[in-house]
Amino acid sequence: MIGTNIGIDLGTTSVKAFMEGRGIVLNEPSAVAYNKDGAIVGIGKSAYAMLEKGHSGIRVVKPLVHGVVSDFTATKQMVQYFISKVCKNAVLKPNVIACVPSMVTGLEKRTILDLITAAGAAKACLIEEPLAAALGAGLQSDRPKGIMIVDIGGGTADVAVITMGCIAISKSTYSAGNALNEAIIRQLRRERDIVIGMKTAEDIKIRIGSALLRDVELGLTEKGKNYITGMPVSFEISSTETFLAMKPKLDEIAETIRSVLEETPPELAADVLDSGIVLTGGGALLRNIDKMIENKTRIKTRIAADPVNCVALGMGDAFEHMAILSQNGYVFKARSEIGGLDVNKEE
Ligand SMILES: Nc1ncnc2c1ncn2[C@@H]1O[C@H](COP(=O)(O)OP(=O)(O)OP(=O)(O)O)[C@@H](O)[C@H]1O
Ligand SMILES: [Mg+2]
Repeated sequence: MIGTNIGIDLGTTSVKAFMEGRGIVLNEPSAVAYNKDGAIVGIGKSAYAMLEKGHSGIRVVKPLVHGVVSDFTATKQMVQYFISKVCKNAVLKPNVIACVPSMVTGLEKRTILDLITAAGAAKACLIEEPLAAALGAGLQSDRPKGIMIVDIGGGTADVAVITMGCIAISKSTYSAGNALNEAIIRQLRRERDIVIGMKTAEDIKIRIGSALLRDVELGLTEKGKNYITGMPVSFEISSTETFLAMKPKLDEIAETIRSVLEETPPELAADVLDSGIVLTGGGALLRNIDKMIENKTRIKTRIAADPVNCVALGMGDAFEHMAILSQNGYVFKARSEIGGLDVNKEE
């Protein structure tokens, strides 16, 4: 194909882009900021900086919810901006591989294809996030041997068993990174009348969060508001309180993995027992999440190298394996070819 080849991981939390010959070229928050007249005042990092911190004339939109497009116009504007940022002054439009969560509908796939070609791609192809994650983690996914990928993003945790370059079985849960932050927010509001925003919750999770109870308890001082008085307050939060707040959501991730394993045919399940579970996505960086999953499933679990960029790196790999992928229905489409609902892959 002529033109630059880029892979775009259009995530709920952040957009990552891979460019052939250059590697990862972009990692920015999924966010667009508008002023009261509807004009864009920031995209990506600059929009995220205004999230929960702007005045009433600023509206920050997170255009993807649970990995799917919830605001078409904002997503298109964001993708358009990121494509032009990574392609700079390229004369030809790029060919884009983008990923979708494994459980999306044909209509949602069509929406994303439509959007990417409207945002400046010459041709676009969609592949499921866990498949791209497996490629990015360097796993041999095209063999007749089952491998299990658990991609824990911001909006969804996608669990899939892959064999021969295809997803054999998959499930996803909304219990992922954002849900963990929301659980911390709820706990503080309910038990201590303290109100915090998503950024503070994220900071708590990253600094003292753990998927298992820590042997040595850690504490952290943060700032928020007292719900009753409305006054700003400084408060202490412990790693134990954080863990207990997140536990139900972590249990749901483990339960989704168990349920995929239960439905996996025996020969593929035996392969997974052999090769183990591989974790990708930003959520894989939560302390002890590999150990928690290993404890609950009794299957050895490891975190992929560079879990955050695995999906984008995998899309880079996909360009090299298009001959094999096209046999499984993954093909590039130009805007003029996007017709009915099953636009990318027969379902
Ligand atoms: N060190 C860390 N500890 C715990 N969680 C982390 C850490 N670093 C990032 N995360 C979480 O990872 C999530 C983002 O991961 P990722 O970039 O894979 O998501 P995404 O691709 O944007 O979302 P999705 O795939 O659901 O659409 C966020 O919820 C963030 O809080
Ligand atoms: Mg993702």
